[in-house]
Amino acid sequence: MKGLVLAGGTATRLFPLTIVTNKHLLPIYDRPMIYYPIATLASMGIREVMVIVGGKSVGDVVELLADGEHFGLDLTYRYQRGAMGIAHAIGLARDFVGDDAFCCVLGDNVLLGPPLAETAREFEAGPCGAGTLLYEVADPQRFGVAELDVAGNVVNFEEKPAQPKSNLIPIGVYFLRPSAFAIVDQLVPSGRGELEITDLLNHYLPGNLFARRFEGLWTDAGTVTSLIRAAELSEQESRAGRMTAPPTRPKA
Ligand code: DAU
Repeated sequence: MKGLVLAGGTATRLFPLTIVTNKHLLPIYDRPMIYYPIATLASMGIREVMVIVGGKSVGDVVELLADGEHFGLDLTYRYQRGAMGIAHAIGLARDFVGDDAFCCVLGDNVLLGPPLAETAREFEAGPCGAGTLLYEVADPQRFGVAELDVAGNVVNFEEKPAQPKSNLIPIGVYFLRPSAFAIVDQLVPSGRGELEITDLLNHYLPGNLFARRFEGLWTDAGTVTSLIRAAELSEQESRAGRMTAPPTRPKA
């Protein structure tokens, strides 16, 4: 499988912290935000990763991550102009992905917990066209929200609904195949002008979506409150000895 990290966007919810720098460079406890999604992909055993960059300080993102050797990865980059949505950013990876299945992780998602190699393998070997991880949150209206049938199967996702149909959200981990690109081509921008990931996932519902609960700790870090929460969770996990030291970029 290949990997994709999305580190574009404008991060207006973190202004003024992100007026002159890229959100994904902000510190979360002892490391830059973007180290977390990179570690998530590495935990799946993925080695070839593309980072979609955009917004401020793109050169600093590249300088920090370099060729990825200090993460045991082989990194390449692609530039996204504007913030046209998560599904749009995924569409930019078409040539990089080629014929492989791939996993996309959002650049502001912090997953602390069990490695996901088995989950990735299960998706890759299985029949489903796409997949995601589900997590229960107290404030689902900030996210995509799952609607479930009586048997507990996901039947639909709604992006930031005023009246959420559950507390279960698709976190920013998406398992996909190259066939997703033809669907991305047909998506139309939402009310907020973005190609929405939930519209892409809905193409696989009902019945063709691989959905698993994430059993660790999860938060995004795209608002001031969630950025603080991410740091608190990381400190807690680090003190409990469940995090390795952040890798340092070798001298150029
Ligand atoms: O964190 C999980 C949630 O992430 C999901 O539950 C939602 O369904 C999904 O839409 C997304 O919601 P957000 O509103 O939090 O996404 P945000 O716009 O903050 O973008 C998340 C990351 O994706 C961000 O770190 C940068 C990247 N991104 C975003 C956009 C809009 C890009 O690379 N390009 C983009 O155009």
